[in-house]
Amino acid sequence: MNPEPLVLHEIDGPVATLTLNRPKALNALNPELMDQLIGVIADLDKNDAVRCLVLTGNARAFAAGADIKAMADSTPTQMVKEQRFANWSDVQRYSKPIIAAVSGFALGGGCELAMLCDIIIASETAKFGQPEINIGIIPGAGGTQRLARAIGPYRAMELILTGNQIDAQEAYAAGLVNRVVPVERYLREAQELAAEIAARPPIAVRLAREAVRYGADTTVRDGLEIERRNFYLLFDSADQKEGMHAFLEKRKATFRGE
Ligand code: CAA
Repeated sequence: MNPEPLVLHEIDGPVATLTLNRPKALNALNPELMDQLIGVIADLDKNDAVRCLVLTGNARAFAAGADIKAMADSTPTQMVKEQRFANWSDVQRYSKPIIAAVSGFALGGGCELAMLCDIIIASETAKFGQPEINIGIIPGAGGTQRLARAIGPYRAMELILTGNQIDAQEAYAAGLVNRVVPVERYLREAQELAAEIAARPPIAVRLAREAVRYGADTTVRDGLEIERRNFYLLFDSADQKEGMHAFLEKRKATFRGE
């Protein structure tokens, strides 16, 4: 019998919901789970019917970090040979937006995984932090860079040097999360937002996401160049013609992703 998948997924119309499935270990992210997650995202990327993804855990934990058991006795040589954590960036490599629906712990690699997503919806019980310092290491899957860009270097520095957690409201105030909602609603809220994005023209969504993401990593000048090129490119899409003509004809546009 096959073991239960470490990442479940279900498709509802244009929205796919991916659920991290190691609840007993608070969804600690081991290499097998990350391989499965990236595999599911890659598969969904090829499915034109799916336009937006939601990534979630459970009410108690989005993910409590990289799996400490899986690395406690590792050597640097093993880390280098296996390029541990290097593949995590693949989470954001594909074309469809991903919304993280976070409840409970999003710590260490869990916070880093949420930050690999494009939008973060938090339940009131969500806790974010980079506690690696407490176990003698530092964030290793983007935390020092992405958290500093998300909430500013000073606040990120305090979290990374102390390992302290912030709650959902503090994360919202710091700009790390988009919305904070009651725990009963966080997943539904993320799925509704995903459905809203999924109703937009997919090529424009893709190129807008790419421009924002690229721009966050580069100079304003290069970012503007990407934005302009993507803008010009969209004038080759049927959805641009449909969107503009529907506006002029005062009717609702139907986007086909072409
Ligand atoms: N790795 C492996 N197992 C973990 C884990 C992790 N990151 N986090 C939790 N677990 C396991 C626990 O070992 C425990 O398993 P057992 O029942 O088999 O003992 C189970 O999940 C439940 O955890 P707790 O009993 O500790 O639950 P709690 O409610 O008392 O505490 C917690 C919750 C505060 C999140 C605590 O589990 C904790 O501190 N976890 C570790 C957080 C952490 O240090 N994360 C960073 C990891 S390193 C990293 O992520 C590196 C990177 O940048 C890529």
